[in-house]
Amino acid sequence: MKFFVDTAEIDQIKELNDLGMVDGVTTNPSLIAKSGRDILEVTKEICSIVTGPVSAEVVALDAETMLAEGRKLAKIADNIAVKVPLTWAGLKTCKTLSDDGIMVNVTLCFSANQALLAAKAGATFISPFIGRLDDLNMDGLELIEDIRTIYDNYGFETNILAASIRSANHMSECAKIGADVATAPPSVIKAMANHVLTDKGLDGFMADVAKAGIKIL
Ligand code: G3P
Repeated sequence: MKFFVDTAEIDQIKELNDLGMVDGVTTNPSLIAKSGRDILEVTKEICSIVTGPVSAEVVALDAETMLAEGRKLAKIADNIAVKVPLTWAGLKTCKTLSDDGIMVNVTLCFSANQALLAAKAGATFISPFIGRLDDLNMDGLELIEDIRTIYDNYGFETNILAASIRSANHMSECAKIGADVATAPPSVIKAMANHVLTDKGLDGFMADVAKAGIKIL
Protein backbone atom coordinates (compact mmCIF):
# COMPACT_ATOMS: atom_id res chain seq x y z
CA MET A 1 0.00 0.00 0.00
CA LYS A 2 1.30 3.42 -0.91
CA PHE A 3 1.40 6.16 1.72
CA PHE A 4 0.30 9.65 0.75
CA VAL A 5 0.60 12.38 3.35
CA ASP A 6 -2.49 14.53 3.82
CA THR A 7 -1.07 17.98 4.52
CA ALA A 8 0.27 21.16 2.94
CA GLU A 9 2.86 21.69 5.71
CA ILE A 10 6.25 21.66 3.98
CA ASP A 11 8.38 20.75 7.04
CA GLN A 12 6.24 17.71 7.80
CA ILE A 13 6.27 16.55 4.18
CA LYS A 14 10.07 16.88 4.09
CA GLU A 15 10.57 14.98 7.35
CA LEU A 16 8.48 11.99 6.22
CA ASN A 17 9.80 12.12 2.66
CA ASP A 18 13.40 11.86 3.94
CA LEU A 19 12.38 8.63 5.71
CA GLY A 20 10.92 7.14 2.52
CA MET A 21 7.40 7.28 3.96
CA VAL A 22 5.89 9.50 1.27
CA ASP A 23 4.69 8.09 -2.04
CA GLY A 24 2.59 11.18 -2.73
CA VAL A 25 0.75 14.10 -1.13
CA THR A 26 -2.90 15.07 -0.93
CA THR A 27 -4.19 18.55 -0.21
CA ASN A 28 -7.64 20.06 -0.10
CA PRO A 29 -8.94 23.63 0.32
CA SER A 30 -9.07 23.25 4.11
CA LEU A 31 -5.43 22.10 4.29
CA ILE A 32 -4.33 24.93 1.96
CA ALA A 33 -6.22 27.45 4.12
CA LYS A 34 -4.53 26.00 7.23
CA SER A 35 -1.10 26.46 5.63
CA GLY A 36 -1.88 30.17 5.15
CA ARG A 37 -0.10 30.11 1.77
CA ASP A 38 -1.08 30.72 -1.84
CA ILE A 39 -2.36 27.47 -3.41
CA LEU A 40 -0.24 27.70 -6.57
CA GLU A 41 2.93 28.59 -4.68
CA VAL A 42 2.66 25.94 -1.95
CA THR A 43 1.60 23.23 -4.42
CA LYS A 44 4.61 24.01 -6.62
CA GLU A 45 6.92 23.71 -3.62
CA ILE A 46 5.38 20.35 -2.62
CA CYS A 47 5.82 19.07 -6.19
CA SER A 48 9.50 19.98 -6.07
CA ILE A 49 10.01 17.82 -2.93
CA VAL A 50 7.92 14.76 -3.74
CA THR A 51 8.26 12.71 -6.92
CA GLY A 52 4.91 10.89 -6.57
CA PRO A 53 1.44 12.30 -7.28
CA VAL A 54 0.48 15.56 -5.54
CA SER A 55 -3.27 16.18 -5.40
CA ALA A 56 -4.42 19.78 -5.78
CA GLU A 57 -8.16 20.47 -5.58
CA VAL A 58 -10.28 22.71 -7.79
CA VAL A 59 -12.51 25.24 -6.03
CA ALA A 60 -15.21 25.89 -8.66
CA LEU A 61 -18.54 24.07 -8.66
CA ASP A 62 -19.39 24.18 -12.39
CA ALA A 63 -17.70 21.92 -14.94
CA GLU A 64 -16.41 24.66 -17.24
CA THR A 65 -14.61 26.57 -14.49
CA MET A 66 -13.44 23.34 -12.84
CA LEU A 67 -11.85 22.31 -16.12
CA ALA A 68 -10.04 25.64 -16.50
CA GLU A 69 -8.82 25.42 -12.89
CA GLY A 70 -7.77 21.80 -13.38
CA ARG A 71 -5.77 22.64 -16.48
CA LYS A 72 -4.05 25.51 -14.64
CA LEU A 73 -3.22 23.25 -11.66
CA ALA A 74 -1.91 20.52 -13.99
CA LYS A 75 0.59 23.01 -15.46
CA ILE A 76 2.29 23.40 -12.06
CA ALA A 77 4.22 20.13 -12.47
CA ASP A 78 4.09 16.74 -14.18
CA ASN A 79 3.18 14.98 -10.90
CA ILE A 80 -0.03 16.95 -10.23
CA ALA A 81 -3.23 14.97 -9.79
CA VAL A 82 -6.19 17.31 -10.19
CA LYS A 83 -8.70 16.73 -7.39
CA VAL A 84 -12.38 17.16 -8.22
CA PRO A 85 -15.44 16.57 -6.05
CA LEU A 86 -17.75 13.64 -6.69
CA THR A 87 -20.51 15.68 -8.29
CA TRP A 88 -21.84 15.42 -11.84
CA ALA A 89 -19.70 18.46 -12.77
CA GLY A 90 -16.71 16.81 -11.14
CA LEU A 91 -17.23 13.61 -13.11
CA LYS A 92 -17.46 15.56 -16.39
CA THR A 93 -14.23 17.34 -15.52
CA CYS A 94 -12.63 14.02 -14.57
CA LYS A 95 -13.48 12.49 -17.94
CA THR A 96 -12.09 15.41 -19.94
CA LEU A 97 -8.86 15.73 -17.94
CA SER A 98 -8.31 11.95 -17.92
CA ASP A 99 -8.78 11.84 -21.68
CA ASP A 100 -6.09 14.54 -21.90
CA GLY A 101 -3.70 12.30 -19.93
CA ILE A 102 -3.92 14.28 -16.69
CA MET A 103 -4.14 12.36 -13.39
CA VAL A 104 -7.45 12.95 -11.59
CA ASN A 105 -8.35 12.25 -7.97
CA VAL A 106 -12.12 12.18 -7.42
CA THR A 107 -12.76 13.15 -3.82
CA LEU A 108 -15.59 13.25 -1.27
CA CYS A 109 -16.68 9.70 -2.12
CA PHE A 110 -19.10 8.17 0.37
CA SER A 111 -20.70 5.29 -1.55
CA ALA A 112 -19.83 2.35 -3.79
CA ASN A 113 -22.04 3.78 -6.54
CA GLN A 114 -20.07 7.03 -6.52
CA ALA A 115 -16.84 5.02 -6.79
CA LEU A 116 -18.25 3.08 -9.74
CA LEU A 117 -19.07 6.32 -11.58
CA ALA A 118 -15.59 7.74 -10.93
CA ALA A 119 -13.98 4.61 -12.40
CA LYS A 120 -16.21 4.84 -15.48
CA ALA A 121 -15.14 8.49 -15.87
CA GLY A 122 -11.49 7.39 -15.96
CA ALA A 123 -10.36 8.57 -12.50
CA THR A 124 -6.78 7.77 -11.55
CA PHE A 125 -7.74 7.82 -7.86
CA ILE A 126 -11.00 7.54 -5.96
CA SER A 127 -10.96 8.99 -2.43
CA PRO A 128 -13.51 7.37 -0.10
CA PHE A 129 -13.62 9.24 3.24
CA ILE A 130 -13.46 6.62 6.00
CA GLY A 131 -13.39 8.84 9.08
CA ARG A 132 -16.34 11.00 8.10
CA LEU A 133 -18.49 7.87 7.63
CA ASP A 134 -17.33 6.53 11.00
CA ASP A 135 -18.30 9.90 12.53
CA LEU A 136 -21.90 9.19 11.43
CA ASN A 137 -21.78 5.73 13.02
CA MET A 138 -21.41 4.15 9.57
CA ASP A 139 -18.58 1.81 8.52
CA GLY A 140 -15.91 3.55 6.46
CA LEU A 141 -13.76 0.42 6.14
CA GLU A 142 -16.73 -1.54 4.77
CA LEU A 143 -16.91 1.02 1.96
CA ILE A 144 -13.25 0.39 1.12
CA GLU A 145 -14.01 -3.36 1.00
CA ASP A 146 -17.02 -2.84 -1.27
CA ILE A 147 -15.08 -0.66 -3.70
CA ARG A 148 -12.19 -3.18 -3.76
CA THR A 149 -14.66 -5.96 -4.67
CA ILE A 150 -16.37 -3.92 -7.39
CA TYR A 151 -13.13 -2.70 -8.98
CA ASP A 152 -11.65 -6.22 -8.91
CA ASN A 153 -14.84 -7.75 -10.36
CA TYR A 154 -14.46 -5.66 -13.50
CA GLY A 155 -10.75 -4.89 -13.64
CA PHE A 156 -11.13 -1.14 -13.13
CA GLU A 157 -7.69 0.45 -12.91
CA THR A 158 -8.75 3.38 -10.71
CA ASN A 159 -6.67 3.36 -7.53
CA ILE A 160 -8.50 3.23 -4.21
CA LEU A 161 -7.07 6.08 -2.14
CA ALA A 162 -8.44 5.67 1.38
CA ALA A 163 -8.86 9.15 2.86
CA SER A 164 -10.13 10.86 6.00
CA ILE A 165 -7.98 8.47 7.99
CA ARG A 166 -8.04 9.20 11.71
CA SER A 167 -6.06 6.38 13.34
CA ALA A 168 -3.14 4.00 12.91
CA ASN A 169 -5.69 1.17 13.00
CA HIS A 170 -7.33 2.58 9.86
CA MET A 171 -3.96 2.26 8.09
CA SER A 172 -3.43 -1.44 8.81
CA GLU A 173 -7.09 -2.25 8.12
CA CYS A 174 -6.87 -0.51 4.73
CA ALA A 175 -3.69 -2.45 3.95
CA LYS A 176 -5.45 -5.73 4.87
CA ILE A 177 -8.38 -4.91 2.60
CA GLY A 178 -6.06 -4.03 -0.26
CA ALA A 179 -6.51 -0.28 -0.68
CA ASP A 180 -3.96 0.88 -3.23
CA VAL A 181 -3.10 4.03 -1.28
CA ALA A 182 -3.92 5.52 2.11
CA THR A 183 -3.57 9.21 2.75
CA ALA A 184 -3.14 10.27 6.35
CA PRO A 185 -2.05 13.25 8.41
CA PRO A 186 1.62 13.10 9.53
CA SER A 187 0.51 12.48 13.13
CA VAL A 188 -1.27 9.26 12.12
CA ILE A 189 1.71 7.99 10.11
CA LYS A 190 3.97 8.64 13.11
CA ALA A 191 1.48 6.98 15.49
CA MET A 192 1.87 3.73 13.49
CA ALA A 193 5.26 3.30 15.21
CA ASN A 194 3.75 3.28 18.71
CA HIS A 195 3.11 0.20 20.81
CA VAL A 196 2.78 0.04 24.59
CA LEU A 197 4.81 -3.19 24.71
CA THR A 198 7.64 -1.53 22.76
CA ASP A 199 7.75 1.25 25.37
CA LYS A 200 7.55 -1.24 28.24
CA GLY A 201 10.24 -3.48 26.72
CA LEU A 202 12.55 -0.54 26.16
CA ASP A 203 12.08 0.63 29.76
CA GLY A 204 13.19 -2.84 30.92
CA PHE A 205 16.24 -2.83 28.66
CA MET A 206 17.22 0.66 29.81
CA ALA A 207 16.94 -0.35 33.46
CA ASP A 208 19.36 -3.23 32.80
CA VAL A 209 21.69 -0.92 30.83
CA ALA A 210 21.87 1.37 33.88
CA LYS A 211 22.26 -1.54 36.35
CA ALA A 212 25.05 -3.24 34.40
CA GLY A 213 26.69 0.00 33.19
CA ILE A 214 26.59 -1.20 29.56
CA LYS A 215 28.36 1.22 27.19
CA ILE A 216 28.91 0.99 23.45
CA LEU A 217 30.50 4.37 22.69
O1 G3P B 1 -8.03 13.59 2.20
C1 G3P B 1 -9.24 14.01 2.72
C2 G3P B 1 -9.08 14.24 4.16
O2 G3P B 1 -8.23 15.31 4.33
C3 G3P B 1 -10.30 14.49 4.93
O3 G3P B 1 -9.97 14.21 6.25
O4 G3P B 1 -10.16 14.26 8.67
O5 G3P B 1 -11.03 16.18 7.28
O6 G3P B 1 -12.22 14.01 7.31
P1 G3P B 1 -10.90 14.70 7.43
